[in-house]
Amino acid sequence: MTKAKVAVLISGRGSNMAALVYAAKAADCSYEVVLVASNDPDAPGLDFARAEGIATFGHSHKGMKRAEFDAIINAEIQKSGAEYIALAGYMRLLSPEFVSQWEGRMLNIHPSLLPKYKGLHTHERAIEAGDAYGGCSVHIVTAELDDGPVLGQTQVAILPGDTPDDLAARTLIAEHQLYSRVLAGYVRQEIEG
Ligand code: GRF
Repeated sequence: MTKAKVAVLISGRGSNMAALVYAAKAADCSYEVVLVASNDPDAPGLDFARAEGIATFGHSHKGMKRAEFDAIINAEIQKSGAEYIALAGYMRLLSPEFVSQWEGRMLNIHPSLLPKYKGLHTHERAIEAGDAYGGCSVHIVTAELDDGPVLGQTQVAILPGDTPDDLAARTLIAEHQLYSRVLAGYVRQEIEG
């Protein structure tokens, strides 16, 4: 079975990336992770990827222009042979050049039920609004932040007395399941046409 090659971009602990890596170990998974790259060379997720035998790349964006930094990351991604990108807690806005080059082949996970609560502090905003549910969404990345077509979502009940951290912890479990399932389905559809 031909597997699609995926590069995962992270900025921190990389638990969603880890979930994508574990899911890819199933023989019938439609993708494999060929690179984990980060804008923080000390991101803990890079250690995890190295331990799993995956190529890694870490380079600080500090003091660099956005497009200049994205070109460096892009060169590594091209070198890895990746055909898709999965953003997983990548806390950098992307340059328009980078986004257009990967149009339709770059996904992101966002911890809200989009189109609600784009950007940061999603759990706090959902609780403050009195919502019955938070959740997470996987979407195609477009030029607008957290705005591209949604490919899948999971609702997560908000419990009375939930703090943003409580809700974030439960939502993360949902994220880990949703992301690998949606990514695998998306690339399979692309492979099989
Ligand atoms: C996740 O909640 C993700 O949805 C958000 O940032 C967090 C990253 O966590 N974009 P991790 O690095 O995957 O553990």
